Amino acid sequence: MTGVQLESVCKFYGDFRATEDVNLTIANGEFLVLLGPSGCGKTTTLRMVAGFVEPTRGSIRIGNVDVTHLPPWKRSTGLVFQSYALFPHLTVHQNVAFGLEMRKVPKSEISEKVMTALQMVRLDHLGERYPRQLSGGQQQRVALARALAFRPDVLLLDEPLSNLDAKLRHEVRVEIRNLQQRLGITTVMVTHDQEEALTMADRLVVMNEGRIQQVGSQRDLYDRPQSQFVASFVGRSSFLNGRAGGARFVTAGGLPVVIDSRLEGEAVIALRPERITLANAPLADTPNNLPGEVEFVSYMGNLIDVHVRLNQHDHVIAQIVNRDDTNVPAVKDRVFVSWAPSSSVFAK
Ligand SMILES: Nc1ncnc2c1ncn2[C@@H]1O[C@H](COP(=O)(O)OP(=O)(O)OP(=O)(O)O)[C@@H](O)[C@H]1O
Ligand SMILES: [Mg+2]
Repeated sequence: MTGVQLESVCKFYGDFRATEDVNLTIANGEFLVLLGPSGCGKTTTLRMVAGFVEPTRGSIRIGNVDVTHLPPWKRSTGLVFQSYALFPHLTVHQNVAFGLEMRKVPKSEISEKVMTALQMVRLDHLGERYPRQLSGGQQQRVALARALAFRPDVLLLDEPLSNLDAKLRHEVRVEIRNLQQRLGITTVMVTHDQEEALTMADRLVVMNEGRIQQVGSQRDLYDRPQSQFVASFVGRSSFLNGRAGGARFVTAGGLPVVIDSRLEGEAVIALRPERITLANAPLADTPNNLPGEVEFVSYMGNLIDVHVRLNQHDHVIAQIVNRDDTNVPAVKDRVFVSWAPSSSVFAK
């Protein structure tokens, strides 16, 4: 098994920069997730590792081998596409065998390798079926078996779950993660579903406009986002714009706020909704205790979002847990919101 290293990898289409200066080291056996909005360069990055797109600049190594200019079939990577891309006229067995034939695996070994791969995804009893005779989740598992059949060093998954309904998505998600851990195979998965990313990954990479914004664990990204983009893309945040100076901050609407940051000048505070405390009266000895009016209440069953307007310019969303004794505010109620000075602050 082997890790993967991308060094200053760029892909330009004419003037357009699909990815720029991507530097990434993926450890042996790691499950890395690429996360980001549509068009940010996730698929492009994955396809460069697989060899279907050639970088304009930079280099890619798999283990000790520089694969930058090697064709896909000379790399030890198995790719599962955004759509399953099974051949409709081939059986499950033949679909999995196809990848092995492409890689010139001796004929005598193919049947056994196909069976082993189908066993891994628990579909060995359906080898003679055609894709149309399978459910979406089963088709997705065939695609996975096809990618794993030749025992690649690196598994590349491009939104493998996006065509499945919510229940199946949960099941296949667990299956992929279990299989990946059992095989100890280095895996890069692309998704724009942040719940999927947070629950499956060892480490996450957030991309935007072709560039890496932040790399880290779930906690790094959620608790210590390094930019407004990451704070808004991973989880949710309310933002207060204003000016910072000497551990003080004044919002656009003129509210004084205590911050735990030495930033000076135009800045923005990011507030996680579950970290805002909501009360009917001012809380004693609490910094950042501000009055406001409930503008909107959004009921989600277990949780309730309370949108609070502080003034014409400033607005926050507090999230409360829906317990037996929860006092759910109503629209137009006067409330007080407070939060810790340690909330993230970014320069604008
Ligand atoms: N062959 C191409 N020629 C020109 N532009 C391309 C080409 N392939 C991709 N792009 C552009 O590069 C950018 C990145 O595309 P990419 O497919 O990597 O996005 P993505 O992050 O996978 O998005 P999605 O979540 O929608 O799948 C997009 O703006 C896309 O239009
Ligand atoms: Mg894509």
